[in-house]
Amino acid sequence: MLSTVYSCAVVGLDGEIVQVEVDYNPHSLPAFTVVGLPDTAVQESRERVRAAIRNSGLQFPNKRYTVNLAPASLRKEGPAYDLPMAVGVLASTDQVPLAALVGTVFVGELSLDGTVRHVSGILPITHRAWLEGYECIFVPEEDAPQAALVPDIDVIPVRSLGHLVEHLYGLNQIPPVVRGDVHTDVPPDLDGMTDFADVKGQEHVKRALEVAAAGGHNVLMVGPPGVGKTLLARALPGILPTMTLDEALEVTRIYSVADLLPADKPLIRMRPFRAPHHTISEAGLVGGGSWPQPGEVSLAHRGVLFLDELLEFGNHTLEVLRQPIEDKQVTISRARVALSFPANFMLVSAMNPCPCGYYGDPVKECTCSPTVIRRYQQRLSGPMLDRIDIHADVPRVDYDKLTDERRGESSAAIRARVETAREQQRERFRNEARLQCNADMGASDIRRFCQPEAAGKQLLDTTLRKMQLSARAYHRILKLSRTIADLAGSETIQVAHIAEAIQYRPRKILY
Ligand SMILES: Nc1ncnc2c1ncn2[C@@H]1O[C@H](COP(=O)(O)OP(=O)(O)OP(=O)(O)O)[C@@H](O)[C@H]1O
Ligand SMILES: [Mg+2]
Repeated sequence: MLSTVYSCAVVGLDGEIVQVEVDYNPHSLPAFTVVGLPDTAVQESRERVRAAIRNSGLQFPNKRYTVNLAPASLRKEGPAYDLPMAVGVLASTDQVPLAALVGTVFVGELSLDGTVRHVSGILPITHRAWLEGYECIFVPEEDAPQAALVPDIDVIPVRSLGHLVEHLYGLNQIPPVVRGDVHTDVPPDLDGMTDFADVKGQEHVKRALEVAAAGGHNVLMVGPPGVGKTLLARALPGILPTMTLDEALEVTRIYSVADLLPADKPLIRMRPFRAPHHTISEAGLVGGGSWPQPGEVSLAHRGVLFLDELLEFGNHTLEVLRQPIEDKQVTISRARVALSFPANFMLVSAMNPCPCGYYGDPVKECTCSPTVIRRYQQRLSGPMLDRIDIHADVPRVDYDKLTDERRGESSAAIRARVETAREQQRERFRNEARLQCNADMGASDIRRFCQPEAAGKQLLDTTLRKMQLSARAYHRILKLSRTIADLAGSETIQVAHIAEAIQYRPRKILY
């Protein structure tokens, strides 16, 4: 007897419906064959399916089974087909009613005792099932809260195969997940995070980070050891604007596929902050592997990628970053397919000005020779420097300021201004779904939205000629001045906004 069960694969960040056909032939010699481009993990399903069925008190007649996974062109990976295969075997041996399989998707890994286990990518899977008009999806109990983020599809949490069979016969009904309202306007959870109020001095660096957070711009902080660069970067999440529901779902989808969602937090509400170590591999940074997984640049999507001690990352690693910074996505090519992962992040980096760390410091003398300093700085290539919008010098803080007990402005107060500026950007881009913040603008958007006043234009033209800026740098200054104007609540880009944006331009530290 033949049965068809629907399941779903994850390709990149998207789901794709897979048909699991099971043919049972009671007149043939025992065999269990899986065809349709399964990888080794799917081949191993056979053992789990057999054991899970038997250990759930159900029958697994020792005859011939042929399982076909369609479409055959798609490579089937991972253990998520265990459950649909088991259901298919049970349906074709008359232990599950065929009518129960209509309009329904099944996903889940099985353990040998029949328990249904967590699988990754539940969010794109459920989303696809909903898009294709399925009415119901059976998922591992653990993954049900994540599946429930997709509205208008019944999500049935399954604990074990035995439980599922009873449900399908209408015996011990499992109730669908009840959805709570999804709120994204909750304040970020900032417990234990440094508050900007506790960072002494560095007022202009705080301002630079505020501008960066407001428009999503890239920052490089340069200064001697122990002046608060790492401290300020780690305090940054406290002033980032809250994500819209769409942004939160986008980020959650990436974490769902990367299998990094905490069980108690089905929806990621805080912007990601990723701080990979400088020994990270290329695949770890931009994504890859034989079963392509998102890398750090995608895990930082809509949030911050913090590269501390920037030059330690090595030339090759930094060059690899150039493409995602520009394109805001990465494409990973495999033999059959090219997959894209979004990678729209704010690059925040920190470094010392020279190998000893004290070049330009008024107190401690630098011991590096000019040649050494030049060689050190050359490791940051021109194209990389060109992609940085804000260069902030972080100098040593005076002793008086450091011991001053008065607290500075709190992260909450700064965040309020950032939110207002971001609100203005959303209003501006309300008809442009691809734009979320000023940093997202391309050349034609800049022409439309970033026309400075006459005096500002003149200042920009003069600077362009004097500093011999690239076209990219020119565009980056305009976007940055748009953000500075937004923070000031100004509809127009005035000369002061352009001037502030220009002084953030990256420069060589040694002339
Ligand atoms: N401006 C500051 N206000 C308050 N504390 C500070 C400040 N600067 C540094 N500190 C203290 O010094 C410690 C070290 O600072 P941090 O790690 O940020 O230095 P850094 O600039 O990253 O140095 P390095 O170049 O060596 O990485 C912080 O954990 C903090 O306790
Ligand atoms: Mg540091």
